Amino acid sequence: MAAGGSATAGGPTTSARPDHAALEVRDLRVRYRSIDDHGPDVLAVDGIDLTMDRGEVLSLVGESGSGKSATLLALAGLLPANASVSGSVRLQGHDILALPERARARVRGRGIGMVFQDPGGSLTPVLTVGSLIDEVLLVHRGLQGAAARAETEALLARCGVGDPARRAQAYPHQLSGGLRQRVAIAAALAAGPEVILADEPTTALDATVQAQVLDLLVGLVADEGVALVLVTHDLAVAAAVADRIAVMYAGRIAEERPAGELMERPGHPYTVALRAAALPFRPRDRDGEGIQERLPELRGRMAAAGGTGCSFAPRCPLATDHCRLVAPPLEPFEGGLVACWRAGELAEWPGVESPEVEPEVPLAAIEPQAVGWPGQGA
Ligand SMILES: Nc1ncnc2c1ncn2[C@@H]1O[C@H](COP(=O)(O)OP(=O)(O)OP(=O)(O)O)[C@@H](O)[C@H]1O
Ligand code: SF4
Ligand SMILES: [Mg+2]
Repeated sequence: MAAGGSATAGGPTTSARPDHAALEVRDLRVRYRSIDDHGPDVLAVDGIDLTMDRGEVLSLVGESGSGKSATLLALAGLLPANASVSGSVRLQGHDILALPERARARVRGRGIGMVFQDPGGSLTPVLTVGSLIDEVLLVHRGLQGAAARAETEALLARCGVGDPARRAQAYPHQLSGGLRQRVAIAAALAAGPEVILADEPTTALDATVQAQVLDLLVGLVADEGVALVLVTHDLAVAAAVADRIAVMYAGRIAEERPAGELMERPGHPYTVALRAAALPFRPRDRDGEGIQERLPELRGRMAAAGGTGCSFAPRCPLATDHCRLVAPPLEPFEGGLVACWRAGELAEWPGVESPEVEPEVPLAAIEPQAVGWPGQGA
């Protein structure tokens, strides 16, 4: 979170500080072809732009199917074979989508670390966790033998794995979920990336471990100076740990603003609805009671991406005929960007009063409650 963190001695090499952003994404589009070739294609990501600096946490929030994972998989080069991607992704000064395949894989492997929701799935089951990290160090940093193992143990220790020499000899299935996620983070850090992409990294963990793993990720951002893109369904977590929040809806960014400002005075009706669902904040229970893992469903279905007009119009109480015909562009709004023709009017709209929020409450939880626009029938 602290801007402009610095590399830790003995830690991953984030050596020179080039003057380009850690990550610059322009007009990213991801299209999934129907697997059996009969159904329609899905435009999962419909032209998004993102800029990340080192030492910064950006949280991507949005309901299921809004394109968060497709965005991260496209950046990491992990889309399945039925997906196609376009746009530009600048990493370490290169437009990686324009590079030949081998060069693209090399720049990505070194520049991006990926952390998934299920660490079990991302750790090779037949390798000890030490061998797995040794291999990343060999491929991306040329370290071998004792030097690699010493660095592996240092990375494990940095990620809060106690007794790293012993744990390095364990297989993933011998570790708890929280430890596996710490190992996955150490592996993501091993190449010395500028950017870590984390897709719901704590959803599968219990509340106490969730908080510890989030603390670890945010600490790495400050200490190693990496940029973190954190996908979470928990708007309260996003508000507590992110510098900026980008709210995704139907493959596009509906609103992207500094976290505190977005929570205090949302500029997009969808953000208002999410925030109404997320409040009130309260500190997490140690035993996890009352923790809500996913954003609650809002009434109505999310429109498919790529249609005419504003994709939120079918669910928006402020929609006009103009909204239904012409999609609003992302435009500057109070320190960030909002895609809504009526963004400036939200503060005056009855029922969109600013509730009390406590963004400084660490790792707050969401109180489950019915979601809907004030005044709307069930
Ligand atoms: N392999 C695939 N083939 C076809 N369509 C897919 C595939 N993966 C995802 N999709 C579709 O792409 C859209 C975006 O999916 P994505 O997984 O990015 O959503 P998400 O925001 O990550 O949702 P969640 O919060 O549930 O993880 C959805 O309509 C989804 O059904
Ligand atoms: S552009 Fe119109 S329909 Fe879309 S969110 Fe804004 S007010 Fe609602
Ligand atoms: Mg997802």
